[in-house]
Amino acid sequence: MPSLVINGNKRLTGKVEVDGAKNSVLPLLAATILCNGKSVLHNCPILSDVDISLKILEGLGCVCKREGHTITVDSSGVFDCCIPETLMRQMRSSIVFLGAIVSRCSIAKLSTPGGCELGPRPIDLHLSALRQMGLEIKEDFGILDCKVKDRLHSADINLSMPSVGATENIILAAVNAEGLTVIRNAAREPEIVDLANFLKKCGAKISGAGTGVIEITGVSQLKPCEHSVIPDRIAAATYLSAAAITGGDILVENVDNEHIISIINCLEQSGCRINQYNNSVRITAPERIYRIEKINTLVYPGFPTDAGPPMMAAATVADGTSMFIENIFDNRYKFVDEIKRLGAKIKVAGRVAVVEGVKYLTGAAVEATDLRGGAALVLAGLAAHGTTTVGNIWHIDRGYECIENKLCGLGAEISRIV
Ligand code: UD1
Repeated sequence: MPSLVINGNKRLTGKVEVDGAKNSVLPLLAATILCNGKSVLHNCPILSDVDISLKILEGLGCVCKREGHTITVDSSGVFDCCIPETLMRQMRSSIVFLGAIVSRCSIAKLSTPGGCELGPRPIDLHLSALRQMGLEIKEDFGILDCKVKDRLHSADINLSMPSVGATENIILAAVNAEGLTVIRNAAREPEIVDLANFLKKCGAKISGAGTGVIEITGVSQLKPCEHSVIPDRIAAATYLSAAAITGGDILVENVDNEHIISIINCLEQSGCRINQYNNSVRITAPERIYRIEKINTLVYPGFPTDAGPPMMAAATVADGTSMFIENIFDNRYKFVDEIKRLGAKIKVAGRVAVVEGVKYLTGAAVEATDLRGGAALVLAGLAAHGTTTVGNIWHIDRGYECIENKLCGLGAEISRIV
């Protein structure tokens, strides 16, 4: 099993470029199904989750081509409307394909995504919204059998929680539906805005993306377009946290500064100096950061749940005690037992984690438990004295393109053992 071997206790310096956002490219790839032609997406990260999405598209009849960070999807020959269970299980967020498939084909068959490393991953909001739009859904033995008579219709949908995935699914279903669909309490994440911008270029009528109320007027057809994926705000947060934990001084390039305000505020609070430029951020960390009083993970524009673990890694060596409160997922703290093997002092009680900063961490062998928790272990390894081996790194490869190359470019000593 591949692993990352890190010789730690090295201060990071230099420049790192952030790739396109994983959480944006997946719904964008799903959206290409609707365009009935050749869509071109630039700034696509090279990640295993993207490979799985391409396999799903190919299974549906799309012709996909990747050249570096550009992916072309020709969806003119879509002939299938099923996603095999093996692919659904490899990527729980594949549920975002549902809205696009029923919008294009009027039928869809896929398995429910089930739980994941972060705990239960319910899709009740997705299904109830699509039912309100006229989709008949039969759920049998974990398979969703969906069909719509004729065409999906408009609905006034009030989400009880601003779910990112449900908002994406409704948008994808509504762009071709009959009439005006309104999503209230919609997710406001930048990835929603990116999806809406792509669809608008294709001819969709969408207003309000990025606010709590999104209005979509269905059109009969979309045309393909060319689009560049927004930068990955979570990868940016991870590299900034890597600088914070190593007392480093780095420039993070290809960033939308507005998307990471909550992260910048937190790093400034911890004593890091932040200089913001056009599309880049420089962080100059003190030798030892201060405690981060309280981090409450929230929906956007609050502090993102996905940036919690990397920031918690930084807090393990901070001067003082930091508190994290996780409000989105039930199982965010699985990596804590692993990071404690390096000497971190963390106490977890339900949604709260209290991190008592220690002067230094010591290298150890650990296993990644999930994507962002895995990144946190790598960061801890960068700061730790001695050698850290992080196993199960397929989790990390789902969301970070060549993490070891990027960190080596900043002066870290990491190698991948295969
Ligand atoms: C997306 C991101 C994920 C990020 C999360 C929150 C992708 C591929 N994934 O996940 O990285 O951590 O947003 O920013 O973009 N919920 C329900 N019922 C539903 C749907 C969601 O109860 O039908 C709950 C979930 O259990 C969770 C919360 O809503 O507690 C947030 O989930 P959601 O915003 O849907 O996250 P995802 O779209 O799954």
